[in-house]
Amino acid sequence: AAQLIDDAKKEVAHEAAMMVEDGQVLGLGTGSTTHYFIQNLGERILTEEIEIMGIPTSYQSFFLAKECNIPITTLDEHLPDLAVDGADEVDPNLNLIKGGGAAHTLEKIVDSSASKFVVIVDESKIVKELGDFPVPLEVMPSAYRPVTDKVKLMGGVPQLRMAQMKDGPVITDNHNFVVDVQFEKIPTPHELETALNNIPGVVENGIFTDVANKVLVATTDGVKSIKK
Ligand code: A5P
Repeated sequence: AAQLIDDAKKEVAHEAAMMVEDGQVLGLGTGSTTHYFIQNLGERILTEEIEIMGIPTSYQSFFLAKECNIPITTLDEHLPDLAVDGADEVDPNLNLIKGGGAAHTLEKIVDSSASKFVVIVDESKIVKELGDFPVPLEVMPSAYRPVTDKVKLMGGVPQLRMAQMKDGPVITDNHNFVVDVQFEKIPTPHELETALNNIPGVVENGIFTDVANKVLVATTDGVKSIKK
């Protein structure tokens, strides 16, 4: 099953890379699916000599883009023509949960600055309603206690994300904590996204509403596209 999912990620990443046109500025998402997308871009630079630039959404995609010889730029210089990014959950209205890789703050900034934002996922990410995947919040460390208190009052169960290769919590690219919040269900994603970002000390949350233009899904019978 793991191999099948990996093949699906490769297929959908390849399809997205083929959408890229010579001269474009690309938003480079974070995660295992966009990893293949960035590698595909590197291959197109080599074989077709296309001239593109990338705006990374994390140190992970920054280092990979460098390795793939994709020239890097910033949002100060350019806005992306196209951003391509993965997701942890996708609902039928193209609302997303992101941040499984703790990169959702810069992802939301880059993805929402692009003329077009395409999400690439395998079928396992498609849900009827968001919320099985806990909502990641990037939280300023000094605000941890008041933020978690307020999240509990909103019906959420917060959990500080702990690091794998270090003792203690995950520290994001922006030097903050990640608090994963489980809600029983999320019937109104846009309202929850706004309410969570209204808590002082929350830098950004992983609910993305009104950002994605298109979702490419790798299924057992090929890549399907979902649009609003
Ligand atoms: C990063 O913080 C996330 O938003 C990723 O985009 C998301 O977790 C998708 O990652 P995979 O492609 O590895 O599933």
